[in-house]
Amino acid sequence: MDYLKYNLKKGYRKIYSLYELNNHLMTLGLDIYWRKKVTDIMNKHLIETNYYNNIKKFVYCDFCIGTGEFFDEMVKRVKKNIDKLEKKLFVGLDFSFDMISLAKLKKVYKEENVFFILADVGLLPFRDESVDIVSISLGVRNLRNSNDGKKDEQIFIKRFKEIYRVIRLGGYFCGLETSRPPNRIIRRISDFFTMYISTNIAKIVSGDFETYTYLAKSMLDFYDADNFKNFLLNIGFEKVNYYLFTFGVVALHLAQK
Ligand SMILES: C[S@@+](CC[C@H](N)C(=O)[O-])C[C@H]1O[C@@H](n2cnc3c(N)ncnc32)[C@H](O)[C@@H]1O
Repeated sequence: MDYLKYNLKKGYRKIYSLYELNNHLMTLGLDIYWRKKVTDIMNKHLIETNYYNNIKKFVYCDFCIGTGEFFDEMVKRVKKNIDKLEKKLFVGLDFSFDMISLAKLKKVYKEENVFFILADVGLLPFRDESVDIVSISLGVRNLRNSNDGKKDEQIFIKRFKEIYRVIRLGGYFCGLETSRPPNRIIRRISDFFTMYISTNIAKIVSGDFETYTYLAKSMLDFYDADNFKNFLLNIGFEKVNYYLFTFGVVALHLAQK
């Protein structure tokens, strides 16, 4: 299979039911820790920079929400800090109906002011500068895949310009994504683990070889943390910081508009 050409939307239709289990198996449970850690860092940052005290309404969106694990964690943390605000909105967005239908089973869906939208990140149904925080967890590198299934740098830029458009001035993009470990030896071990161990576990559990081969290869092909930081600065974000986790196999990028 040519991994540069793969229809991801169809792919997720095949793997959605066992997606969470496979994630936990492939990362040896570390994905649960990463989501908790990142939502803690993000919320702490908003408290320390007095963000919550300087707003009259709050709009938080999780794009590429998948089955909603990240969104669930983030809403839990954020909502305690905006109790007093009258206007608040939490939105989960994804282009996969199947993934969203599983997200709707999460506790977060029962909260007030929570909505789900079926849409592509390339064409967002939001006004300019209307969102405080956009997060994407483990879906960033998917945005380099065009709708006809090709790796496409231009569409990646277009989707990020769209994300930038909807974030308000002073608002944040928060991206958790696999990265390339800076240490060469660790990178080799991690690549070996990705290609030959974790992916094979997921293939066996899900029975889907194509989607997991694509996802694994796209990890090896993705930006390292410095390059992705530069990418975000080129999109127009003012300040970009990143944090590495587990020797740099994943990174959190925090970008302010
Ligand atoms: C690897 S999953 C990540 C799910 C979840 N955020 C998590 O932390 O597990 C990526 C998700 O991105 C969605 N996705 C990929 N490309 C997209 C696009 N262009 N627009 C909207 N959703 C997209 C897929 O349907 C999938 O649910």
